[in-house]
Amino acid sequence: MANFFPRWTNLLPLKIAVCAGSVAAGVVAAFAYYATPKAQVVGYQPSQPIPFSHSIHVGQLGIDCRYCHSFVDVSGHSNVPTANTCWNCHEHVQRDSPKLEPLHRAMNPSFPGYDGKPIEWVRIHKSPDYVYFNHAAHVNRGISCQSCHGDVHEMEVVYQAESHSMGWCLECHRAPEDHIRPLEEVFNFEYGDADVARYVQDDSITTTRQLGLRLVEKFDVQPKESCATCHH
Ligand code: HEC
Ligand code: HEC
Ligand code: HEC
Ligand code: HEC
Ligand code: HEC
Repeated sequence: MANFFPRWTNLLPLKIAVCAGSVAAGVVAAFAYYATPKAQVVGYQPSQPIPFSHSIHVGQLGIDCRYCHSFVDVSGHSNVPTANTCWNCHEHVQRDSPKLEPLHRAMNPSFPGYDGKPIEWVRIHKSPDYVYFNHAAHVNRGISCQSCHGDVHEMEVVYQAESHSMGWCLECHRAPEDHIRPLEEVFNFEYGDADVARYVQDDSITTTRQLGLRLVEKFDVQPKESCATCHH
């Protein structure tokens, strides 16, 4: 989409706010409120060059998120897979499906129209450039993809399930116990109260939230709220 404003205007509200640092607490409250209505991107669901279904590949075939998003727990940025990853299977499986023509153009030199270029997936989740975000820092502290991206394992077409506004980030930074899980459960999209007993034998801890409180304490999880955490 065309960007009608020069890039520097993106930073203007931020600079103004940071100058008003002495009233930081009030600023957080104000921006948490005002930033929210701007985040009208919930539900954003562009159509993709190949109708790739997470519901088939994750929900039915049980492929782990990390098979395709292989950097998500080791780097700040989560990659989208290259055509190679798809070709590993689709050189053999459903090879002649017309839906896979863009894959043949990228991978199969004997295909008419082959150009060897990457598949151009349309990006869905995008924070503004002035926000610092890091995937591995969340995933390796027990925050699941599900908390931030919703029930991806059931999506025929991926859409943005959560607002990703500043207020939304801060809501969890203030109460991580509502989301934090044992690390073994980060990629389990069926995680629920029934799983808790596998981690604690304690009658007073039976819900994921009670276990969350225990984990936050045990691992000293303290997400920060200072401006410099997310705005460098
Ligand atoms: C077989 C490969 C594969 C697997 C397994 C897979 N994905 Fe994906 N994922 C993709 C591809 C390809 C795209 C880009 C096309 C699209 O959006 O559907 C994508 C897109 C996404 C996006 C949107 C990216 C954006 O542009 O904002 C999210 C979020 C996502 N995947 C999360 C997950 C999660 C969570 C899992 C595990 C439950 C998972 N994926 C498993 C291949 C995969
Ligand atoms: C681990 C193996 C594996 C990988 C990796 C994989 N797929 Fe698949 N895919 C399958 C299987 C198996 C099916 C058939 C499922 C069925 O028929 O129920 C399928 C089905 C599909 C279909 C539906 C085809 C049709 O005509 O209905 C599309 C489209 C597709 N995959 C695209 C992709 C893309 C794009 C990637 C890479 C991002 C990818 N797949 C990665 C195994 C895989
Ligand atoms: C704490 C929230 C959070 C968690 C947990 C999280 N994500 Fe994200 N994800 C985001 C945000 C925010 C963005 C946009 C980041 C940006 O623009 O740099 C994003 C972007 C993405 C993208 C698009 C990247 C691109 O360049 O196209 C993919 C793919 C993705 N996430 C997959 C995953 C997977 C898979 C998991 C679980 C292993 C996961 N995410 C866990 C918040 C999260
Ligand atoms: C579902 C809960 C949750 C959400 C949503 C969330 N965070 Fe976090 N965040 C955490 C936790 C937990 C930590 C780790 C705290 C610790 O290690 O003590 C963290 C840590 C961070 C860090 C420090 C990472 C580092 O590199 O040291 C940054 C930066 C951050 N979050 C930015 C964001 C941004 C930006 C968003 C919104 C786009 C966001 N977070 C949304 C839970 C969350
Ligand atoms: C946990 C991460 C996080 C922290 C901490 C944080 N922000 Fe933000 N901030 C964000 C995100 C994410 C956005 C982008 C929101 C969007 O796209 O709607 C944002 C947007 C903004 C904006 C632009 C709002 C707009 O409507 O355009 C300003 C100004 C801002 N933040 C100031 C601050 C100040 C001042 C502080 C400290 C008092 C702070 N932020 C702390 C994550 C954070």
